[in-house]
Amino acid sequence: MTDDDKRIAAEAAVSEVQPGMLVGLGTGTTAAFAIQALGRRVREGLRIEAVATSLASERQAHDLGIPIRDFATVASVDLTIDGADEIDDDLRAIKGAGGAMLREKVVAAASARMVVIADGSKRVAAIGGRAVPVEIVPFAAAFVAQALEPLFASVTLRAADERPYVTDNGNHILDCRSPRQPLWPQIEAAIQAISGICGHGLFLHQVDAAYIADRGVVSRLER
Ligand code: 5RP
Repeated sequence: MTDDDKRIAAEAAVSEVQPGMLVGLGTGTTAAFAIQALGRRVREGLRIEAVATSLASERQAHDLGIPIRDFATVASVDLTIDGADEIDDDLRAIKGAGGAMLREKVVAAASARMVVIADGSKRVAAIGGRAVPVEIVPFAAAFVAQALEPLFASVTLRAADERPYVTDNGNHILDCRSPRQPLWPQIEAAIQAISGICGHGLFLHQVDAAYIADRGVVSRLER
């Protein structure tokens, strides 16, 4: 059911892709459905190029025959399609459960249009139920954790196989839960002021539209 909703939200967003576009490919299980749908359109003759927000998405796109460009050589993207962990009706989102939020944020910033795709479980009245992931230089781990603690009730180093999780950029992630105050722009500014932080999963301004599928029905939200 959830997978069906992810797939139909993804397919609705992929219908926005036009010939000649440079498309940003998101990361995660919902984005994977979009990459699959885009791969089908490419095999049917659609000519596009893409940039990926993670090594996993790049591999998937490559295997499906989608032409991929190195984002390091790209300054602007036409349309990016990506998932989210939570999104509200003002299109404020939390991303990064999959650990790709730094590249996702950069590609979103470079994009003329950024579209979130999600199943209905991701739509919330107010973001903040999920952890805000903060990508940090490993060198700065203890310093950044201490600086984040006044902002959140809990700050936890993300682990995988009992070791710190390592992002595609070679960094670590601190998962920050339960903000101590509800004003997200202030929390964002405070996070961004801490040295040693490379990026974070708060997307307060980047999302232009969302396709959210709930039990087979797709709603489109526009900023
Ligand atoms: C990865 C992300 C993902 O887009 C987000 O975690 C949603 O993933 P999924 O579609 O698997 O639920 O931000 O960094």
